[in-house]
Amino acid sequence: FVTPGPNGPVQDREVEVPADGRSLMKAAVDAGIDGIAADCGGTLTCATCHVFVTDPWVDRLDPPSGDEDTMLDYTAVERRPCSRLSCQIRLTPALDGLTVELPERQY
Ligand code: FES
Repeated sequence: FVTPGPNGPVQDREVEVPADGRSLMKAAVDAGIDGIAADCGGTLTCATCHVFVTDPWVDRLDPPSGDEDTMLDYTAVERRPCSRLSCQIRLTPALDGLTVELPERQY
């Protein structure tokens, strides 16, 4: 996880999680990562689990569903092309090394 710092983004926490299909949001919350609010618990109704997926990972993820794409319009920090809702990213062995940047705020 990369977090915003006063002089730009800083590499922050590395988290080991079993690649058992749990969501990135769940892994982040379980690891106590600040900056992921996830108010709705992963039901795709809050947009407070917003992350920016870094290269080259953005192209390795399945594209967002229509519902996720719609919810990305409601993030607190304006969406970018690499924006995703972390509750919709399922962790698999293929995503070993996935790095995401946290937005400055979720509200
Ligand atoms: Fe609410 Fe992801 S946790 S949309």
